[in-house]
Parts: sequence; structure tokens; C-alpha cells
Amino acid sequence: MATIGTDIYQAKKLLLAEELVAIPTETVYGLAGNALSKKAILKIFETKNRPKFDPLIAHVDCLDKVHSICSNIPKKATLLSDEFWAGPLTLLLDKKKNVPDLLTSGLDRVAVRIPNHPLTLELLSKLDFPLAAPSANPFGYVSPTSAQHVANQLGDKISYILDGGSCSVGIESTIVGFEEDEVVVYRLGGASLEAIQNVVGEVKVNINQSSNPKAPGMLKSHYSPGKRLILGDIMTNLKSVAPDKTGIISFKTNYSNEVRKQIILSSSGDTTEAATHIFQALREMDDANIETVLAELLPEEGLGRAVNDRLKRAAV
Ligand code: TXA
Ligand code: MG
Repeated sequence: MATIGTDIYQAKKLLLAEELVAIPTETVYGLAGNALSKKAILKIFETKNRPKFDPLIAHVDCLDKVHSICSNIPKKATLLSDEFWAGPLTLLLDKKKNVPDLLTSGLDRVAVRIPNHPLTLELLSKLDFPLAAPSANPFGYVSPTSAQHVANQLGDKISYILDGGSCSVGIESTIVGFEEDEVVVYRLGGASLEAIQNVVGEVKVNINQSSNPKAPGMLKSHYSPGKRLILGDIMTNLKSVAPDKTGIISFKTNYSNEVRKQIILSSSGDTTEAATHIFQALREMDDANIETVLAELLPEEGLGRAVNDRLKRAAV
């Protein structure tokens, strides 16, 4: 069983030996290994049971290290990294030759980000290679937002989980790439569209290529929890379910008299707060003694869009 702790030297030792370590970030926990080592990358795919056509994000702690693996960085990428790093934004940039094709699934661009978590930034600063880190969950399941979530799902496959507490953002990073002069958002995440548009103006949103494995939008059922999830107006959908076998995930409304279990994502109606709770809510519903989960969409603003994206994938 994995040890949960805060010893970055232990983490460093394992990473130098091409082993894997789960690391905290502000978005979700990552399953990390040396991004320049084929052996470590293969272990990541194997441990997650993830198909090799789904590329990994390289994590670094400073711009110098970004430049060591990327070239031809567009002006708009620099504007975005100035604004959001360290933070919940991943950029797709032309890769240099030192980046293994295995990391990018043979694509010419590598996904890179500087995560905003003190423990992980300190760990990265002590390494002379980037860390490849997909979310630390088995492929196709909800991303982990605490060390315990990682232990529950991957605890028998890795030896160390670096504990950085609960993730402050709670959903994965926003993924942005550049086509000609256009800025393209491939995954909605912890950096809102409004915030990105404030920096670079209009962007193209291209998140629905989920049947194309080379697109970063992930497979459609990526966030599938174990329970049937029905998305829509909760009062309407309540009419067709058995209340004692039903859970509700609401944005801000209290329906507690109606069903066995209820989770309100943000009673004050704050989409950023809702994002920090969504994955925990899906996990709790999975563990609850219910058959069906009713959920409703958030307003399409701020992080509401990204939460809605996760809910829609979970509902498929
Ligand atoms: O917040 C996050 O981004 C977390 C934390 C740990 O940093 N990581 C994460 O990784 O969510 P993962 O592997 O679960 O999701 C990364 C997504 C995948 O959908 C993948 O297809 C896409 O990024 N991606 C990675 N490299 C890519 C590339 N070179 N071109 C296009 N898409 C890429
Ligand atoms: Mg993932």
C-alpha cells in the first residue's frame, strides 16, 4: 500500500529511479514520472491503464524549463503564460527533439504547464527533468482531488503519494493551443474562458472531438461515475425516480426533503466554489446506497462551463 506523506526527498528519490509518485497540484492530483524517460512514461500508461494514443502533460516549475522542451512559442502563448502560470492552464507548444514521442503520442506538440502548488513546485525545482503527470486515476474515472482519493484507487500500484491537501481548484487545467493566429481551447478547465479572452481576445472552443483520440478532449465517457446520472431539471426528473434510491447534485438549491442523499455544490451560487466540489460529489454519490443521481447544469459562465462539461461526460 502506498505511503502518504510530505517528504519531497523521498519523492525525488523515487522519480530519479524512474518510479512513479502521485503529486498534488491546484487542479487535481497527478501520477508523475520523469517526462524524458520512456521507461517512466510507459509505467504511467500501464498504471493508469491508459491507451498510448492519449498524450501526457509535462509539468515544470519555471519558464527556462518550458524553453528546454518547447520551441516557436507564439506571442499569445507568452501573454497567456504571463497571466496564468503558475496556474490551471496547459499550453500545446511545438516540442523539441529531447521530448520522447511516447509522451506526445507521436504529435508534434507537447502539452506543458507550471502547476501552482508549493510542494510540487519545490519538488520540480529539485529535478532536472519535467514531470509527466496525467490525473492520478484509473483511465475513465473521476480525477482525484485529495491524497486519499489517489490511495483508494492506485494505492496498491504506487509506493508514494505526496500529500498536498485538497486541491484548491478541483477540476483539471484548461488546455489551449494555437492554429495559425487563432487561439483554440481544447479542454475547458480551471482557467475560465472569460479570463482567457481578457488576455487574448476571441478564442475558438473545440472540445467535442472526443471520438478522435488525438484530440485532447478526452473520450466522451471520461468522467463516468458508477451510478446512472441524469442531467436536467431536477424537479421534473424527480417524478420518474424512486426517492430512497436517488441522490441529487444541485448547484445551489436545497432539495433535501426529496431524496436519500443531496450535495449542494455552492449554496452561494459561486461557480468557482462549485468546481472545487464537483469530483468529490461524484465520488460520494458513487459510494452512496443509491441507484440514480440527478444533477443540474450550472450557468454557462466562469467555471460553470467546465463543471457542465464534466457533468455532461458523466451523464453519457
Ligand atoms: O490539471 C491537469 O491538467 C492535470 C494535472 C495533474 O496537471 N492533468 C491532467 O492530465 O488532467 P490528463 O492526462 O488527465 O489530461 C491531459 C489531457 C488529455 O486529454 C490529453 O489528450 C491532452 O491533455 N493532451 C496532452 N498532450 C497533448 C498534446 N500534445 N496534444 C493534444 N492534447 C494533449
Ligand atoms: Mg485525466
